[in-house]
Amino acid sequence: MASSSFFFFFFFLLFAAAATAASSNPNGYMHLRFYNHERILGSGPDATVVYAVERTSSSSGAGFGNVIVYDNLLRAGVEPDSPIIGRNQGMGVGSSLAENSGLTNFQLVFTAGKYNGSSLALQGLFPVAPLGTVFERAITGGTGKFRLARGYLLTTEVRATNTTLTGQLDAYITFR
Ligand SMILES: *[C@@H]1O[C@H](CO)[C@@H](O)[C@H](O)[C@H]1NC(C)=O
Ligand SMILES: *[C@@H]1O[C@H](CO)[C@@H](O)[C@H](O)[C@H]1NC(C)=O
Repeated sequence: MASSSFFFFFFFLLFAAAATAASSNPNGYMHLRFYNHERILGSGPDATVVYAVERTSSSSGAGFGNVIVYDNLLRAGVEPDSPIIGRNQGMGVGSSLAENSGLTNFQLVFTAGKYNGSSLALQGLFPVAPLGTVFERAITGGTGKFRLARGYLLTTEVRATNTTLTGQLDAYITFR
């Protein structure tokens, strides 16, 4: 009797833990957080973002008709020496006549940890907005452990210097 109530209590704890994890992520989505470390357009030979087409000069890269290509590092933390977990490789197109956003199409490729070798495919608008603005892009698929993934990515630029821009990325993923 004592052991069955112990097991009941144990399963109750497991259930409570699972319920807590699910409620902290809306609709039970898997939540991953990591940081995009970019060396900005025009920051010299180490820039991780370059123009493929510079039709209009624009400090933000959002000039209408411009095309940028980037290969940024994904790190576990906001500090520039925190562990590398992957790369953010993609392109941005100045697709707004008002030059207040660009369309990005990119792949988050994981190179360390539990998701090494897997990737997420994404697309969406990147607004020209102040640091701290939260914006959303769509997770449209994935490879490896992320096959058939769907969901959304929330991005906030959290730190800027004259050569770097660091963004917090929160991926909410479902396979349903
Ligand atoms: C990631 O996977 C590749 C290919 O399997 C392997 O060579 C590499 O050592 C792994 N990296 C880490 C940090 O585990
Ligand atoms: C960035 O700022 C540092 C000082 O904080 C300065 O030495 C450097 O020349 C600046 N670089 C650019 C590209 O403006």
